[in-house]
Amino acid sequence: MSKGIGKLLSKKKGKLYAIDGNKGARTVLITGASGGLGASFADVFAKNGFNIVLTARRKDKLREQADKIEKKYGVRTTLISVDLADPAGPQKIFDECEEQGIEVDGLINNAGLAIPGFYQETEWEKHRDFLQLMITAPSQLSYLFEPGMVKRGYGRIINVSSFVGTITPTGSYTLYGAAKSYLIKFSQAHAEELKGTGVKVLALCPGFFKSELHDEADKRQITSQLPARMFLDVDKVAEEGYDKIMNSDEVVYVNGRIYQLMGNMERSNFSKIRGKGQLRSYADRIRTNLTSDGRNKQSGTNG
Ligand SMILES: NC(=O)c1ccc[n+]([C@@H]2O[C@H](COP(=O)([O-])OP(=O)(O)OC[C@H]3O[C@@H](n4cnc5c(N)ncnc54)[C@H](OP(=O)(O)O)[C@@H]3O)[C@@H](O)[C@H]2O)c1
Repeated sequence: MSKGIGKLLSKKKGKLYAIDGNKGARTVLITGASGGLGASFADVFAKNGFNIVLTARRKDKLREQADKIEKKYGVRTTLISVDLADPAGPQKIFDECEEQGIEVDGLINNAGLAIPGFYQETEWEKHRDFLQLMITAPSQLSYLFEPGMVKRGYGRIINVSSFVGTITPTGSYTLYGAAKSYLIKFSQAHAEELKGTGVKVLALCPGFFKSELHDEADKRQITSQLPARMFLDVDKVAEEGYDKIMNSDEVVYVNGRIYQLMGNMERSNFSKIRGKGQLRSYADRIRTNLTSDGRNKQSGTNG
């Protein structure tokens, strides 16, 4: 568990906070901004004039990303190092923003990881932390930041789900698909509740893109066997997320034509004619390749 977000902020006061670029601009807070999709989101929002609050556990990586976008776009950045598997994490982020007088206009619930294997193969504490990170933290961050957004009549919330949250789970990475499905339903209910307030909610559902998540989840070997066309460009995923939340009223968006087609096929019960089409074989390949440990088990998907 990470301690001392206050320490990081106060240490950096006069350095990070001295950057006055973009005064008066809107601010977006991004979880998991130390790399991968979160870093791409930081870039796209900064490019569009937003000041950025970057949060994750690794301070050095956060600093790297912040330096990059400050130099590139002259926006103001704020770093908050916090562990979102810690139940106190979301409240710490909120309190730190309050203390710094930062009004959060956009929230990107992006931080995430994946636990490989079957449910009983992992100790409960790891599952507990996973649920805290993937479900409770995004829910609580929305709960904390939304009232301010509603009051000001403007808010943009993206919950980073996954393509796998939209399809039938097959076992292995058991909680991952379930958590991503939760984010979709949460976003849909929420978007309904917030209609007319100026606050929009989007569940973004990308297919695979290359990131540290695959190393962390120990499945680089497996994903590297997938055809290159299965991998989305991470910057494009972020660009599309930005475009959807800013310029449309869509509440659920699946990135990538191939994943949109696979989802449509599953919904229209294409499995009855499985084996006939190339796309079906991709879906099968994902399912059969992503076994938890190479044993001959029913497989699972994660991405
Ligand atoms: N990669 C894919 O194929 C794919 C596909 C669909 C959806 N997604 C989703 O996209 C999101 C971003 O993942 P990514 O692929 O970009 O992975 P990534 O490169 O591993 O980034 C994950 C981010 O989450 C942060 N994080 C992890 N555990 C945390 C914790 N306990 N507390 C605070 N921050 C934490 C990490 O930062 P620190 O380690 O510094 O804390 C990192 O910034 C995730 O929600 C993932 O499920 C990924």
